[in-house]
Amino acid sequence: MCGIVGYIGAKQAAPILLDGLDKLEYRGYDSAGMAVYDGKKIQFAKARGRLKILRELTHDGAKLPGCLGIGHTRWATHGVPSNTNAHPHFNEAETIAVVHNGIIENYARLKKMLVGKGYRFVSETDTEVVAHLLDYYYEGDPMDAICKAMQRMEGSYALGIIFMDHPGRLYAVRKDSPLIAGKAEDGCLIASDVPAILKYTRDVYFLQNEEIVCMEAGQINFFNIDKDPIEKTATTIEWDVSAAEKAGYEHFMLKEIYEQPKAVLDTLNPRIRNGKIEIEELGMTDEEIRAIHKIYMVACGSAYHTAVTAKYVFEGLARIPVETDLASEFRYRDPILDEGTLLIVVSQSGETADTLAALREAKQRGVRVLGIVNVVGSSIAREADNVMYTWAGPEIAVATTKAYSTQLVAEYLLAMKFAEARGTVTQQEIDDMLLDLRRLPQQIELLLDHKEKLQRFANRYVAARDVFFIGRGIDYAISLEGSLKLKEISYIHSEAYAAGELKHGTISLIEEGTLVAAVVTQKDLYKKTISNMVEVKTRGAFLLAVTNEGNTEVEKAADYVVYIPETNKYFTNSLAVIPLQIFSYYVALGKGCDVDKPRNLAKSVTVE
Ligand code: F6R
Repeated sequence: MCGIVGYIGAKQAAPILLDGLDKLEYRGYDSAGMAVYDGKKIQFAKARGRLKILRELTHDGAKLPGCLGIGHTRWATHGVPSNTNAHPHFNEAETIAVVHNGIIENYARLKKMLVGKGYRFVSETDTEVVAHLLDYYYEGDPMDAICKAMQRMEGSYALGIIFMDHPGRLYAVRKDSPLIAGKAEDGCLIASDVPAILKYTRDVYFLQNEEIVCMEAGQINFFNIDKDPIEKTATTIEWDVSAAEKAGYEHFMLKEIYEQPKAVLDTLNPRIRNGKIEIEELGMTDEEIRAIHKIYMVACGSAYHTAVTAKYVFEGLARIPVETDLASEFRYRDPILDEGTLLIVVSQSGETADTLAALREAKQRGVRVLGIVNVVGSSIAREADNVMYTWAGPEIAVATTKAYSTQLVAEYLLAMKFAEARGTVTQQEIDDMLLDLRRLPQQIELLLDHKEKLQRFANRYVAARDVFFIGRGIDYAISLEGSLKLKEISYIHSEAYAAGELKHGTISLIEEGTLVAAVVTQKDLYKKTISNMVEVKTRGAFLLAVTNEGNTEVEKAADYVVYIPETNKYFTNSLAVIPLQIFSYYVALGKGCDVDKPRNLAKSVTVE
């Protein structure tokens, strides 16, 4: 989603803004812009398309002098991607400039009111309403205007604001859209995400809902919506700038695929101590765990796919019913949430609007919420009752890989912990599983060593029109992720099907040469899935199989087989997904797609 950067200090703002916007590119955008106060007026530049166009337009920022500025990458919601709709937006006199991330839900009503009062609009955006609304309330005191505007606006917003009358101040505010602030040596910065300012400071303030920040004379001051000053403490970001750089890899996605062994290890290690599972952050005694009789796992996209896997693991190991839900469905379906229900929300960014709304719905109804989150200090991390962090580090490629893998292992650990507390597994079983978990990073590395073979195979499918992924049980959950990875970055139509469901319609889509990827890791289901493979093969499909070492039986039906090392049946997803990620990456690369920033997609979906 949109990215915001702002700077006020002793240096020229525009190059810093461009640098910050560069780091936010991963969020997805279709236009970019900046506004800088040059000592006399607010100058601006906007361009549809990639950031490099804005760079060219402004000669890398040189054409916009001044030490106070705001920058923005826009992911269109209201109004097509265009120069006019790109941010910043202004009041008519161009004395107030605004960049915005989020959606002003009542913008049509506000616009009508403002038009009635003589305000003229030039763009189709909801953001322009904010600029005019601030103008409407502005009587010399920016804080006053901001607070009054906040009382009127509904929806989600992170705003960076400049008032020409107050050139020594940079204002920002948030509600339901992420925003951070930081103080560097030569100035102060705001941004939608940490990578944008990490080069300048490691100490970051996470703004909470309806908090306002005013930066002036090297100071950062925070206020609530009643204009009362508030104290905030900075969080020190532990990871390095290099963690958000490509480190010689052609794409962030490939780099992140390769970071999976470490990410998995980092997520497991702190929670396995002296051969025991210790999840302190769960904050629940064994007795409290035993009091839970139902779990909801709610998330979006790939995070949801990990939840589908987790359902099998929880139910299999801990014998506790788990319902999985897409967050966008959960929030509006009036779910049955009673005492003894635990809601687990899973999110890399910790900012996904639907997942956050699901969390709030559950909390409001008195249900305990556990967040499995990657971004420290994110909204979900702050609002959940308990947070289990995945230690994947910053994930920049839009298509998730390493965060997905860490979510899986966090969920395995949780399920094992629940199983232990509920007495549904023996100590020996736990010990064996811990051994298998500890082997996963090395086994993932082994699979990564075979990437060339998959690259050659992928090259044959760059022109594919449709691809199907099939599997049963956990293999179905893996298929969901394999299919999403392929379609989101290569734009090839693909679908995942529970293998037994093919005959109920989908099989009619199989033609001569259609690629079907079968995931076959669940021993008790081998025979069943193999017969589904034969069914599609006899109708002309080309079969790729991902299966366990030793399952040579699959070769009867498959045209191409990728073997994964032996592991516990509940953990196979962590291995089987690796070749599917690599396959998708190389298909997309072969097609010349923008692998890290697929069209129309955003890394963090902060609007509904
Ligand atoms: C797919 C992908 C998305 C996210 C989804 C949820 O590769 O990355 O499907 O998994 O948008 O995002 P988070 O995990 O940030 O809540």
